[in-house]
Amino acid sequence: MKILVVGSGGREHALAWKLAQSPRMSRIYVAPGNAGTAAEPGCTNVALSSIDELLAFARSERVAFTVVGPEAPLAEGIVDAFRAADQRIFGPSRACARLESSKEFAKAFMQRHGIPTAAYASFDAAASAHDYLERNPGPIVIKADGLAAGKGVVVPATPEEAHAAVEAMLVTGTLGAAGKRVVIEQFLAGEEASFIAMVDGRNVLALATSQDHKRLHDGDRGPNTGGMGAYSPAPVVTPRMHARVMREVIDPVVAGMSAEGSPYTGFLYAGLMIEGERLNVLEFNCRLGDPETQPILFRLKSDLVGLIEAALNGGLDKVEPQWDRRVALAVVLAAAGYPESPRKGDPIEGLAEAGAEDVHVFHAGTAAAGDRIVTSGGRVLAVTALGDNIRIAQRRAYAVADQIRFEGVQMRRDIGHRASGALRRGSAAR
Ligand SMILES: Nc1ncnc2c1ncn2[C@@H]1O[C@H](COP(=O)(O)OP(=O)(O)O)[C@@H](O)[C@H]1O
Ligand SMILES: [Mg+2]
Repeated sequence: MKILVVGSGGREHALAWKLAQSPRMSRIYVAPGNAGTAAEPGCTNVALSSIDELLAFARSERVAFTVVGPEAPLAEGIVDAFRAADQRIFGPSRACARLESSKEFAKAFMQRHGIPTAAYASFDAAASAHDYLERNPGPIVIKADGLAAGKGVVVPATPEEAHAAVEAMLVTGTLGAAGKRVVIEQFLAGEEASFIAMVDGRNVLALATSQDHKRLHDGDRGPNTGGMGAYSPAPVVTPRMHARVMREVIDPVVAGMSAEGSPYTGFLYAGLMIEGERLNVLEFNCRLGDPETQPILFRLKSDLVGLIEAALNGGLDKVEPQWDRRVALAVVLAAAGYPESPRKGDPIEGLAEAGAEDVHVFHAGTAAAGDRIVTSGGRVLAVTALGDNIRIAQRRAYAVADQIRFEGVQMRRDIGHRASGALRRGSAAR
């Protein structure tokens, strides 16, 4: 069986690595992939990116199905195009992907379906946005409506910063079309968690919970990034909270999308803010998270091919995935200059020697240059490890990460700090 994975990051390396372990697999194509997927047993990179090219390739290679990693092709309608051509593909339609590609759509959808989220207002004229800020002096968050690759959210520390963010998005146009409309919402305190499920249009299969680390520096300081590390499970999602997320968030999304004529299929990611008993949705993504995918799939013992096939056949209610009971943790090694302007082309040393049992080095922004591997993107690698508890997983991941060197490498030293705090307090997690 052949499968096509679309994308080039750490998430896609983890997907390809996991799919390649299936006994039914003959070849995983990754389009366009990275230096890690090029070297992964059973995987081959193909230099394609447009939807037309990908569709023609899937047809001519007779791939059994395609899995889409990133949001951009989903928002562009890759799933609609494949379906119209009778090619099997796992992901949401363009209409469903609006849950991620338009923050305003997502907020209005949540309001229509009673899904808990911060109060908000949306604006496309700067004057009314400024006026709203004057009349609502409490802590708020400003979000560009469209896809902005993690750069579209401002949590202002002062009213001046809030007005400046409105001005930058709506007047200067720093985010282009994505910032032509903004959502201003109430600031929520609490702890974040990532809740990702597979959806087949009707049935839901929740994957293991996880938590990301968005800020560049230790202690959750510095600018927001795509994610500097993640681990699974997230202790903040207690069994009770898990049941509530299913009932109050995931099930209403699936029912609401169906009721609105666009049944949801694909991975559905709810970014949650939890404070005690208070549960709110910060955002939806219509795909797996990066780097959450790396620890989640590291814990998945079941064949991912079988789970995706069940989803494609509308049978997610008939499968029960098996999870490794241990903790998995991924530490991201980012390039010099990330996130503002990551430097490319730095040779990466120590990769060949770096390794240990229950540790895998997933690649993200890497490329081959002759017989060397060099940096080629902001997040370069995600070293992922399993351990009987969070501390052991941390120790294993950092021991391997410390063997890898490139100029200006940026790496947080405290990935998993919230879970190790919870370990100290003895909380349960799933
Ligand atoms: N209402 C809010 N209150 C507090 N923090 C928020 C709020 N909305 C977003 N954030 C912070 O900003 C980050 C990015 O926001 P999010 O909605 O996830 O947008 P995106 O991932 O598209 O950039 C979140 O992970 C969270 O840390
Ligand atoms: Mg987010």
